[in-house]
Amino acid sequence: MRAAAAALALLALAACDSAPKVAFADASITLPDDPLDLPEGPGRDAVLENCAACHSPSTMLQQPKVSREKWESIVGKMRTLYKAPVDEAAVPAIVDYMVHVQEARPAS
Ligand code: HEC
Repeated sequence: MRAAAAALALLALAACDSAPKVAFADASITLPDDPLDLPEGPGRDAVLENCAACHSPSTMLQQPKVSREKWESIVGKMRTLYKAPVDEAAVPAIVDYMVHVQEARPAS
């Protein structure tokens, strides 16, 4: 019985030895899209002036696609909850820009 077990163990070791050698090859990887700049478009300046102090472009751009109303409420939340000094007059331009950028973005 012990001999059989030992033989089995040897067999297992032998099997390991004959396993195919692994060959590593160069591979390219694609990093997640991390936009470092806001795309051109109407309202871009308003976003830079009012939002970029706290957020990198990727934080604002990599959001689930939401409605205009939702963007209005997000900008409202920035102002009331986070005390972002967002110029009231710039809000429509900011909302337009965020909606425009999300619509222009290829579906992911
Ligand atoms: C005073 C700093 C400040 C400014 C200015 C600011 N935010 Fe925010 N924002 C925050 C904080 C704090 C959070 C919550 C924590 C986080 O997600 O990083 C946040 C979260 C967000 C989020 C994540 C989604 C959510 O609902 O929480 C989005 C999108 C966003 N901000 C967009 C904007 C836009 C657009 C502007 C310009 C109108 C803006 N922020 C201006 C502080 C700011």
